[in-house]
Amino acid sequence: LILPSKSGRVVTIERHILETQKYYPQATGVLTNLLYDIALAGKMIASQMSLAGLAQVLGKTGDVNVQGEQVMKLDRLADDIIYHMTATTGRVAVLASEEHEEIIPVPEQTTPGKYILMFDPLDGSSNIDYDAGVGTIFAIYNRVTSEGPGTVDDCLQTGRNLVAAGYIVYGVSTMFVYTTGHGVHGFTLDPSIGEFLLTHENIRIPPEPVYYSTNTGNQEKWSKGVREFTKALHGGNGKAKPLSMRYVGALVVDFHRTLLAGGIFYYPGDKGKPQGKLRLTYEAIPLAYIAEQAGGYASDGCQAILDIRPQQLHQRTPLFVGSSSLVRAAEAYIAKYD
Ligand code: AHG
Ligand code: MN
Ligand code: MN
Ligand code: MN
Repeated sequence: LILPSKSGRVVTIERHILETQKYYPQATGVLTNLLYDIALAGKMIASQMSLAGLAQVLGKTGDVNVQGEQVMKLDRLADDIIYHMTATTGRVAVLASEEHEEIIPVPEQTTPGKYILMFDPLDGSSNIDYDAGVGTIFAIYNRVTSEGPGTVDDCLQTGRNLVAAGYIVYGVSTMFVYTTGHGVHGFTLDPSIGEFLLTHENIRIPPEPVYYSTNTGNQEKWSKGVREFTKALHGGNGKAKPLSMRYVGALVVDFHRTLLAGGIFYYPGDKGKPQGKLRLTYEAIPLAYIAEQAGGYASDGCQAILDIRPQQLHQRTPLFVGSSSLVRAAEAYIAKYD
């Protein structure tokens, strides 16, 4: 028998989410159920993905999404699964996805619920065809409108309003990591019993950074501040020990490693793309919240990601996230040189 904790206490995700309700005396269980719906969607995505080559779901759909990207078959599959597992439950008022130009209303026959769900159904989809890391990212808010279908205003909240955020990594194992503002907790899927079990309780980003993670192929286009910062990570003029570089090209996987090992992930703006590539609402904000909950920090280079009020659903932002000391250092280099 393989038990996930040294104490022998087995905590399923369902039990863990229920236990965190103690922090919310007025809790009705709706959030618990919504998180559980997402975990279930994650299990379905993981199961489909493990058969990808056999089930012929590799490759492109032939469509281009609102981001101007080729939509992969698994992008669409993951998006459909999350929609079907959450939209008709009466728990959400409206959804928004990286793959949809507009907000996604709940079906007419469903009474809109109290939560707003924003998600990146499949992050890192350029990795799909190569069996490399991918994941799902989600953010949950309370609605700000009082009744009827949720609106785009419900979706454009700052990260300081988040009720919960999390991600699922489909890697060596499938992991579900989430926070409701009381620490960050990680669960590993045991596919033989179909349950996520608590394996990483109260994750804290280690203070000593190990890795940096960025697409150095873009460095000729970076600002002086970002280039100087990167030089410092390489050890500068021999003053410091250089960090090792890791870059999967799936934000959620690069973030997961950064969270567990310590270090920094960054995707800065550059000459061609001043706002960089990553999406504020589906990617930067939820991961920034998780980082802060784990004792880290996330910035756009000038200010905390969680302080930015999104103006548009698909708005992009530069992102620096990870160990606080490194993210603050990036801000300092940018302030000095740019
Ligand atoms: P998505 O697959 O959801 O569109 O996100 C892709 C993003 C992100 O996961 C990753 O960090 C980044 O694209 C990689 O971009 P580059 O290929 O430009 O490095
Ligand atoms: Mn995409
Ligand atoms: Mn993404
Ligand atoms: Mn995506």
